[in-house]
Amino acid sequence: MTIHAVLPVLLTVACASEGLAAGAVTNETQIPPYTLPDPLVCRDGTRVADARMWREKRRPELLRLFESEMYGRTLLGKPESLRFVLREEKKDARGGKATRLRVGVLFEGKEDGRQMELLVYLPNRVKGPVPVFLGFNFDGNYTTTDEPDIPLARHFAMGLYANRLVKNTPTEAGRGIHREMWQYDLALERGYGVVTAGYGEVEPDADGRWREGPRGLGPEPGAKDWGCLGAWAWASSRALDYLESNPRVDAKRVALIGFSRLGKAALWAGAQDERFALVVSNNSGAGGAALSKRVFGETVDNLTGKLGRWFCPDFRQYANNEASLPMDQHELAALIAPRPLLIASATEDLWSDPKGEFLGGLGADPVYRLLGTDGLARNEWPAPGQLVDSRIGYFLRAGKHDVTREDWQAMLAYADRHFRQ
Ligand code: GCU
Repeated sequence: MTIHAVLPVLLTVACASEGLAAGAVTNETQIPPYTLPDPLVCRDGTRVADARMWREKRRPELLRLFESEMYGRTLLGKPESLRFVLREEKKDARGGKATRLRVGVLFEGKEDGRQMELLVYLPNRVKGPVPVFLGFNFDGNYTTTDEPDIPLARHFAMGLYANRLVKNTPTEAGRGIHREMWQYDLALERGYGVVTAGYGEVEPDADGRWREGPRGLGPEPGAKDWGCLGAWAWASSRALDYLESNPRVDAKRVALIGFSRLGKAALWAGAQDERFALVVSNNSGAGGAALSKRVFGETVDNLTGKLGRWFCPDFRQYANNEASLPMDQHELAALIAPRPLLIASATEDLWSDPKGEFLGGLGADPVYRLLGTDGLARNEWPAPGQLVDSRIGYFLRAGKHDVTREDWQAMLAYADRHFRQ
């Protein structure tokens, strides 16, 4: 399939200055001609004839490619020692709307071992098991809410979108700084639970510290083995293990969400762990939903430079050489098929290539259709504010790299459509 056939359209949206590296392509006319691998043609040239062949041959083959060439193999499963401890249960949180739990997920089964703390909100007005949104946050649970009684994080905090936070060090000044990104009340009113954890508790997003996270529990990683994204994806599955053990949660309706680097991790987790019933990527960009071969905004060179720790070392071979990638991100989206996948972008977030994110979804459409769904119901990049709610969903918000109330409204409408109809 030659996406180059899509008319070069000059982006009229404003250029987001922050994060844009010098020389980054932000104009459709500068995109090199490129050909996307056909997700329904196997490496040996045979065409995928039916759902069974997808499942038994092509899907595993693509999964292996993303492992060996990009994210690395996940060298650890569910540890025998995994243990959950309920640290708090507050039945009248958020003005009585929610039951709030704090749950320690102890990867090594002990309080002084590797772990993460889940902050869980469950709506009080719903009696039966509830669907939940699950996703990591950047700077610790206490930054997602104004509630004064959430303990200050003790772990690494990125401080990237937080001007009140001293870089990497949680302080009281950080309380609630990300509350807009976490629209708990909105979700609770609609009958959903929300679960989060600080990604820096799982593994610090810093060079040389991988041993502190789950990768330190497995065999020494090699050139084709997991990076940070793999570790965060792994931890999402451990959060889901916990959710499966809580009878108030409907573990068959867990929507895995993630913003930016955590959107990349959410897609990779959703590809590997089919228990995730729905996946949402917000502004996941390069290494997420956006096609690499468009070389628009962030490139493989950018990803594998300072941020190389996120991927397997061998991914570096594709820097300035995207054409030689044997797969592209539409095939990562296809690994989530036939489960609902919502790709959300923002007009000004050119670094994340919003149109490339849409095309990533569109490229997965033949797989979703082969599996009997309606795929992505739009061929053309939609205007901002219009939710496309087909099985591959798409939402473009006007504005910057962020997760806003408007994004949550789209996520909730999309989840209602796929979880409740
Ligand atoms: C940087 C990085 C992106 C990433 C983003 C984020 O901008 O280049 O790939 O998505 O950080 O996670 O915030």
